[in-house]
Amino acid sequence: MASTEYIQIAPFTRLLTHFRFLLTVQSEQGRSHSLILFRLSEPATPDSPNARPGQLYAMESTCPHLGADLSHAEIEECETGVVAVCPWHRYDFDLRTGKSETGLKACTYNIEVRTDPSDGVDNVWVEAPEGGKSWRVVELRPVSEEFADPPPRPLVKPESEAASVTEGEPIIPTENAPTTLMQWAVLILNTPNPTLKPSLFTTHSPALTPGTFPPQVERTKHAVNLFHTGQLATIGNTPPHNPPQPPTIPARDDAYTQNTVDPRKLTKRKNAAVMLHALANIEQWAIDLAWDIMARFGPSNPSLPPAFFFDFTKMALDESKHFSLLVSRLSGISPSTPYGTLPVHTSLWDSALSTSSSLLGRLAIIHLVHEARGLDVNPGTIARFARAKDEESVKALEVIHQDEVTHVTTGHRWFTWLCEKEGKDAVKAFREEVRKGWRGEVRGPFNVEARAKAGMTKEFYEDLRGDLGAGEADLGKGIGGEKERLVSEEKNAGAGEAANVEVAYEKTG
Ligand code: FES
Ligand SMILES: [Fe+2]
Ligand SMILES: [Fe+2]
Repeated sequence: MASTEYIQIAPFTRLLTHFRFLLTVQSEQGRSHSLILFRLSEPATPDSPNARPGQLYAMESTCPHLGADLSHAEIEECETGVVAVCPWHRYDFDLRTGKSETGLKACTYNIEVRTDPSDGVDNVWVEAPEGGKSWRVVELRPVSEEFADPPPRPLVKPESEAASVTEGEPIIPTENAPTTLMQWAVLILNTPNPTLKPSLFTTHSPALTPGTFPPQVERTKHAVNLFHTGQLATIGNTPPHNPPQPPTIPARDDAYTQNTVDPRKLTKRKNAAVMLHALANIEQWAIDLAWDIMARFGPSNPSLPPAFFFDFTKMALDESKHFSLLVSRLSGISPSTPYGTLPVHTSLWDSALSTSSSLLGRLAIIHLVHEARGLDVNPGTIARFARAKDEESVKALEVIHQDEVTHVTTGHRWFTWLCEKEGKDAVKAFREEVRKGWRGEVRGPFNVEARAKAGMTKEFYEDLRGDLGAGEADLGKGIGGEKERLVSEEKNAGAGEAANVEVAYEKTG
């Protein structure tokens, strides 16, 4: 189903790097759709010298059968045309018409390549989904490096590295290996070591010893890949499955917890290494938050469709990428202080605890207050690293910022989905959740543009205050207390740069 409106996506040349892209679009009314753009290789021939170097197709990213993600669908040629084969139950859908032999029909969209007369650039336009107006692109990114053109050569792990992974606890447990997404989620929440891979960590690290895994990041990558490629086709949040309970607080190795401090006692924040370390700590909690929302609320909300789990597994994967990027930068600029050696705090999990009984509250506070605040402060943090001429960190932080826009989009998408289902007005419901679950003012200055891209228009957040803990004498408790502290420190700090460094602590995932 599509309308006659077309959305300008990108110059055609931008699609030449990969064969598949994930495209998220949003209407003026805040409705989001995820599409997969497929580019099939079709080189120009002497007969058709002007042929485009590929054919483009767009299809809704979820399968109309039971909602699997189609980003890893196999593409096959058959008599009637080219079909995408769903990884879950292998139904095939014609890329042009969406029709399937099974009678089901996937939603496909026309694509046009139009030459801009002003500059001669070929731009790709996609037919807009129905049920909204003024659509725009929130995200266009390659599905994965697997679909790069040319594809990357397979990574061969050095012998020593492979050995060290197997010496520690393996990525897939040898006993009771997870068979559902819920089981993977709880396993990862109970995985205390966040590390990426041994090669990132040097012998300078007293906290991280190569080969002593289980690694939270590696398990996240593995589980999400299984789920997105259809090798793990069971979410397991509803009967007859008996999903395991997530832990109240995710596991952390002693090496990390011994460095946990009261956020009010964190001082030397101007140092870039301290800042990267602090941001990596937030990303580590963000990995847990993405798994926790699935494990905690999946079983109690059986009507959540598979698309919910695809969105949050993608978020878990992004957060583990962010963690890896930051830890890698940290080891690049300060090999003597690898991740785990500097003080960290656990404030972000306070908001997870206070919203553990309400999915609406969790989406509002974590994804639409904390993560949206990240969008406000990221540009200041990026500017600070740019002033220090640390281009690598700037690049990493820019990637993170783009991803974070999509996380707020995800939060907004499922918050409004739930409101629609419960017959609530999303703006009113959001303001009510913040009043109940947030302490103090929802502070600006706001990154209005990035927030709007994610669906958070001003009526959601302007002039908003939370009453959580109103009347309590101790404002130092929890992340709300930390924010109050930051307000006063920022006032004292005065100068913009100091304020940015302080505020960066508010950034989530
Ligand atoms: S064929 Fe796609 S979910 Fe079953
Ligand atoms: Fe995030
Ligand atoms: Fe993140």
